[in-house]
Amino acid sequence: MTSIQSTDYFIHFSDDAYQQLNNYLTNDEISTIFVLVDKNTHEHCYSKFLNKLSTKKEMKVIEIKAGEMHKNITTCVSVWKKLTDLGADRKSILINLGGGMVTDLGGFVASTFKRGIKFINIPTTLLSMVDASVGSKTGVDLDNLKNLIGLFSNPEMVVIDYNYLQTLSNRELRSGVAEIIKYGLTFDSKLLIEIKKDNWKNISKLNVIIYKSIVIKNKVVLQDPKEENLRKVLNYGHTVGHAIESYFLEHATLENLTHGEAIAIGMVIEAYLSHKLHAFPLTELTSLKEYIHKTFGKTGIATEHYTDILGLMKHDKKNINGSIRYILLKNVSDYIINATAPTELVIEGLDYYNSPSNSR
Ligand code: GLY
Repeated sequence: MTSIQSTDYFIHFSDDAYQQLNNYLTNDEISTIFVLVDKNTHEHCYSKFLNKLSTKKEMKVIEIKAGEMHKNITTCVSVWKKLTDLGADRKSILINLGGGMVTDLGGFVASTFKRGIKFINIPTTLLSMVDASVGSKTGVDLDNLKNLIGLFSNPEMVVIDYNYLQTLSNRELRSGVAEIIKYGLTFDSKLLIEIKKDNWKNISKLNVIIYKSIVIKNKVVLQDPKEENLRKVLNYGHTVGHAIESYFLEHATLENLTHGEAIAIGMVIEAYLSHKLHAFPLTELTSLKEYIHKTFGKTGIATEHYTDILGLMKHDKKNINGSIRYILLKNVSDYIINATAPTELVIEGLDYYNSPSNSR
């Protein structure tokens, strides 16, 4: 697959990507190569990655704990210390081998270490291939508030190797499907149809779907790299979804939700708001809810949690002067940026998500 040019770096695919990476690493300007992994990618992806490398340069591995609950400044401090102890200098490079947690946190750590060292993203999950690793957002959570601390910082390149997807459980794979549904709803009705036919379950079709998703995301990023306006569209489903994710992260007694599962719920609720406020077609709304319930299962969100979830939405980065902003849809591929919605309707949306698939 042809490489995709982003802001000032390329997204490369499959074997060609490793050729580009190996060429890049021959640069004499690079001193030591550090590879950031979590426990899972150390075990399942690191040896596959090593097999593709031809560099003779010194390589040092830094492992962090896996899971969103570790995407915080404490983990960053441990990586900064490790880099220091292992002798990293400003010519060192950090290769982030992992899912969105590793690429977001690794990008942030690299961009702030000694005022910034270079980094490369090698996403190993579907979610991080189609979203997190592309577009230069780096950062960590502040307590349970998602991605509150961070900066835009470009990687040197992104390497997409579909083979890492074989290391994922079905649950981890479908977490990425939520972000692809987001691209379908906001930009590409054909992609949405492909997803609803479960084409992502077929590996060769999935590779094409990933490529299309990255093309969509990259087009948006090129037009609005710092999310001044258009890029907010990539947050469809996230105003409510992030609040639900944060709430579930905060409450150890509740089941643990993946990012994609939370965003899937958020997309149904925001589609409900879109239907009520902007005539988003009822057929699209019901079909989305049905597909999300079928694919992700139905997470029970008890009414006693509603107030806290609504409270968490006040921290969304898109809000303006304390007013909660959403991306809403008039139709598939027809979106409204900075939309508002009454709280009562969001509560109705939560009820709507909780109701059985066939109920309106
Ligand atoms: N994940 C949304 C964005 O990168 O803008």
